Amino acid sequence: MHTQMKKADLLIHSATQLCVVPPQNGGPQRGRALGDRSAERSRQSLGLIENGAVACAGGRIVAVGPTTEVRATWQAAVELDCSGKVVCPGFVDPHTHVVWAGDRAAEFEQRVRGATYLEIMAAGGGIMSTVRATRAATLAQLVAETHPRLDRMLAHGSTTVEAKTGYGLTTADELKMLEAIAMLNTNHPITLVPTFLGAHAVPSEYKDNPDGYVDLVVEEMLPAVKAQSPKPKTQFCDVFCEEGAFSLAQTRRIFEAARALGFGLKVHADEFKPLGGTALAVELGAVSADHLVCTPPDEIELLGRSDTVAVSLPPTPFGLAHHDYTPAQAILDAGGILALATDCNPGTAWCESVPFVIALACRYLRLTPAQALVAATLNGAHAVGLGNKVGSLTVGRAADILVLDLPDYRHLGYRFGTNPVETVVKAGRIVVG
Ligand code: NIG
Ligand code: FE
Repeated sequence: MHTQMKKADLLIHSATQLCVVPPQNGGPQRGRALGDRSAERSRQSLGLIENGAVACAGGRIVAVGPTTEVRATWQAAVELDCSGKVVCPGFVDPHTHVVWAGDRAAEFEQRVRGATYLEIMAAGGGIMSTVRATRAATLAQLVAETHPRLDRMLAHGSTTVEAKTGYGLTTADELKMLEAIAMLNTNHPITLVPTFLGAHAVPSEYKDNPDGYVDLVVEEMLPAVKAQSPKPKTQFCDVFCEEGAFSLAQTRRIFEAARALGFGLKVHADEFKPLGGTALAVELGAVSADHLVCTPPDEIELLGRSDTVAVSLPPTPFGLAHHDYTPAQAILDAGGILALATDCNPGTAWCESVPFVIALACRYLRLTPAQALVAATLNGAHAVGLGNKVGSLTVGRAADILVLDLPDYRHLGYRFGTNPVETVVKAGRIVVG
């Protein structure tokens, strides 16, 4: 018996609840599969195993199931007893602006006094103030300022994080941001997925010639990003389609150029004003449409029938003290794929905690804790093109695993303001705890 035991590197066992978060037909959990909020459906969509175990070897998951079954076959050098705890996949945060220099605490204070985000932006502050600080920072400074933010994200359970450019807005400074992402991807345990967001704001030097800036993005930046080779390669191109940022026609122009170069598409749509960005994302087969606060019903229908992931960012309305959030139930009723993200950025939402996002989503999107957990793992992975690699505790996937010091998964969302993450395993290695 003993000689037949298989050797794993790490065995996590006796979890009171192990949440597998299984793919649905090999893909994300969409529409009613995620949208039925019954207790029974919740356990199914989590693939909940009581007294569960997961074994990892070579950075991947090699076995998952009831503890008695897994331990009958596997033993490991490191074994973690998780009785009284919840085990789930590492969080995938599919929308962040985590690379930046400086801060905007003074603007936060202005907003508390009554100024609006768009007013501050129109007066040359907002995104442009972070652009000035980011342009002034060296590559090393940018990496040094971002690294502790990633440490805190990891401590809160994020094991895969999308990271956008968009605070450079010159070809050289956008490439510098991508270099920073590549360096951080190498020297930090979190897997970073880079997205080019050269069209985040029209920089002040192009204020009287916004189409000239779009020319620069299309003719110079996109080809330069394509030619640059820091690993991982930039797969996605995003545009802030919004009044005061980029029009629908400008967004289309950038997307058509990006698509022709082989980039996947993402869009900031319907954050403040609906400009048609969601319909455009669906038409062009974008991987995700993000924000989606004021999306019109006909565009929700289009989204629901598409494979474009709807990424909701509850920290943004919360951070701006706005009252409107993503109409998540309507998106699910329409059949959509819903994911959650922090939007971590220095302006609207300096939020490094997916557990806090889940707490907001349960209240303002009316997601059950189970729905929120699927949206923050499996569906988030689909929003960054890693739907088959991370986000689920199934054999063959990356061993990105969390141990939560919670007696029941529903304590995620129910509790907030403290960190429930006790242990973080990244690619089979304990990196926190
Ligand atoms: O997603 N909306 C545009 N971009 C960010 C805000 C960035 C900033 O204010 O620096 C967002 O909310
Ligand atoms: Fe954003």
